[in-house]
Amino acid sequence: DKGNHRHFMEKEIYEQPEVISHALGHYVNFIENRVLPASDVIDFAKVPSLAISACGTAYLAGLVGKYWFERYARLPVEIDVASEFRYREIPLAPQAAALFISQSGETADTLASLRYCKEHGLKIGAVVNTRESTIARESDAVFPILAGPEIGVASTKAFTCQLAVLAALAIAAGKARGTIGDAQEQAMVRSLAEMPRLMGRVLNSIQPKIESLSRELSKCRDVLYLGRGTSFPLAMEGALKLKEISYIHAEGYAAGELKHGPIALIDENMPVIVIAPHDRFFDKTVSNMQEVAARGGRIILITDEKGAAASTLDTMHTIVLPNVDEIVAPMIFSLPVQLLAYHTAVFMGTDVDQPRNLAKSVTVE
Ligand code: M6R
Repeated sequence: DKGNHRHFMEKEIYEQPEVISHALGHYVNFIENRVLPASDVIDFAKVPSLAISACGTAYLAGLVGKYWFERYARLPVEIDVASEFRYREIPLAPQAAALFISQSGETADTLASLRYCKEHGLKIGAVVNTRESTIARESDAVFPILAGPEIGVASTKAFTCQLAVLAALAIAAGKARGTIGDAQEQAMVRSLAEMPRLMGRVLNSIQPKIESLSRELSKCRDVLYLGRGTSFPLAMEGALKLKEISYIHAEGYAAGELKHGPIALIDENMPVIVIAPHDRFFDKTVSNMQEVAARGGRIILITDEKGAAASTLDTMHTIVLPNVDEIVAPMIFSLPVQLLAYHTAVFMGTDVDQPRNLAKSVTVE
């Protein structure tokens, strides 16, 4: 049932504050502002490294997770798309752990990567939405994302719930490894606790701006997304979402890679969507935007209040979100990214929930 929404995708975007808060409740003690111990099967304090494998949007969630596990838990992460991971013959330490991220829990390549790791003696964790799935069944530890059924082929709420669970796991790993202290844990958990309310606020406020922007995007042939740090996977997620449902060609790039190739594409016909919260990368990203502006590129900046005040650039549009802590920025910044793709597809009149050539669950190689 779509309720008051035109599409399941829209409904699922608007459900995010509620489902994320439900998901977090499973991993976090909000009274004491602490994370719950991650798992009694995977000992994050002892594992030398973590392998992550997934496909599509779930892979991009894993990529954000890699930044978190490495930064907050000092845990090295090997990550790849499952279709490559399964055949790369990666040398894996048997003492390592592996995480497989999958909304459906049935994706063929992800399952094959899981079995590869199992054969090599790794402890297996599954970050899944469907707890009765094959991937969940074959894992040693299951980390449910509790997003509820996701019907739209384009993943939205599963992505942000995957992120929320990975954030909680990274904090738990940091605690176990002694790289995060009590005060930092409490501050991070407080930020996570505030996130659902913030998400609701953002969803209520950005709609008109997004709609007018989407009308313009729907006339474009190509769109480039840029980001640094955890905003880089988000840039790729934005591009994936846009091409998936609006059929507009889009690419996501690390902002610093711009001058190594894609800058050649920049002209007044190709909008560049820059995802740039006011974090430790902001100034660098702004200087990349300057390179775009100098070549007549049209910039759509997605930033926060601090970023909007600090940027002197002439942008075509700026979407301003509330200031948020670094750990929650990827979830909050997902919202405009999802809505832009959604409204652009609505303007183009495509079948948003069932885009051409795509299946919700890819159970063949
Ligand atoms: O069920 P899974 O999470 O394993 O699915 C992985 C991908 O097929 C999926 O995320 C796909 O990329 C989505 N259509 C993206 O919106």
